[in-house]
Amino acid sequence: METSKNIKYYYELDDEGKFDISGVTPRKSSRPKSNKAPLAIQQFVQNQDDGRRTFSFTYKAARFEEGWLLDSLGYLYEQKWISDVLRKVKAGKEASVYLCRSGVQVDVPLVAAKVYRPRMLRNLKNDNLYRAGRTDIDSDGREIVGHNEVHAMVTRTAYGESLRHQSWIAHEFQTLKALSVAGADVPRPYEMAQNAILMDYVGDETLAAPTLNSVDLEPGEAQVLFDRVLCNIDLMLANERIHGDLSAYNILYWEGDITLIDFPQVVPPEGNPMAWRIFERDVTRICEYFDGQGLGSLEPRRLATELWTAHGHRVVKAVHPRNLDPDKPEDRRLWEQQK
Ligand SMILES: Nc1ncnc2c1ncn2[C@@H]1O[C@H](COP(=O)(O)OP(=O)(O)O)[C@@H](O)[C@H]1O
Ligand SMILES: [Mg+2]
Repeated sequence: METSKNIKYYYELDDEGKFDISGVTPRKSSRPKSNKAPLAIQQFVQNQDDGRRTFSFTYKAARFEEGWLLDSLGYLYEQKWISDVLRKVKAGKEASVYLCRSGVQVDVPLVAAKVYRPRMLRNLKNDNLYRAGRTDIDSDGREIVGHNEVHAMVTRTAYGESLRHQSWIAHEFQTLKALSVAGADVPRPYEMAQNAILMDYVGDETLAAPTLNSVDLEPGEAQVLFDRVLCNIDLMLANERIHGDLSAYNILYWEGDITLIDFPQVVPPEGNPMAWRIFERDVTRICEYFDGQGLGSLEPRRLATELWTAHGHRVVKAVHPRNLDPDKPEDRRLWEQQK
């Protein structure tokens, strides 16, 4: 597909639909006033552009979605990680997830492919909060140390932006790897492509697992699942990771079990000046959901402090203003609190 046509489609893809996530207000068009795509998108599209890829999947993608899908999943198809794309499970904030039939490389029949949306490429400029204290990594999980690469990322050239994009996805992939080895309730990851991650699918052929926020738990179930989530948070800390966007929206519920998902923004507990705040926010959001499910009188702050200090981390009350962004309401609120 031609690059210029592709760029146009990618904007359509980003403008597509109202996301199926309650609480997210439908956006205005994401297309910039000038017709020129940001460098990062131009470069990314050029890298992806591959006219040879014309697969025929069961899922019939909309015109603007097709090129993106083929480019993102072509490698996984060619390497026999998937043999078909059956349907779209969900268009999320940053990514769309597709139900795929597995290829011969995988020993379960169905897998989920998380394909990042073009929007991701532009949102990277807001990723500083999460990048602090963590290294940029390549698709093999190795730290990016080459002078040219580091320079490109610092000066934010198109090449640098595509490295950042890769690093963001690689963090999700490496986290899924580490946590599934550690025995956490996360989908097992299989492979990562330039713009996609392949992992265990939760659900069955007709129905994908709902996210916990849309589920009313049976009496007696709430306590068990709450304890289970805390176990996972604890295990994540033991593996030097804070989820960073944990809430009932990022937990799947299927046949009485939970699965934690959506990890690109993981934060290391040491080295990020906001780590404690981010951790406390994760625990608080989880408590809010379980509060609503009948577990009254949860004390998120006390719980978060207990978990945090049990791993030898210090509760840092104040955050240096240098690390706050005046353009972000959340950071401004923090600043007000600290004054
Ligand atoms: N492994 C999976 N199995 C089934 N559904 C999934 C899986 N991973 C994600 N989903 C669905 O896709 C949605 C978006 O995925 P997520 O990783 O949360 O990305 P986003 O950043 O877009 O929120 C989830 O809310 C969930 O409904
Ligand atoms: Mg999510």
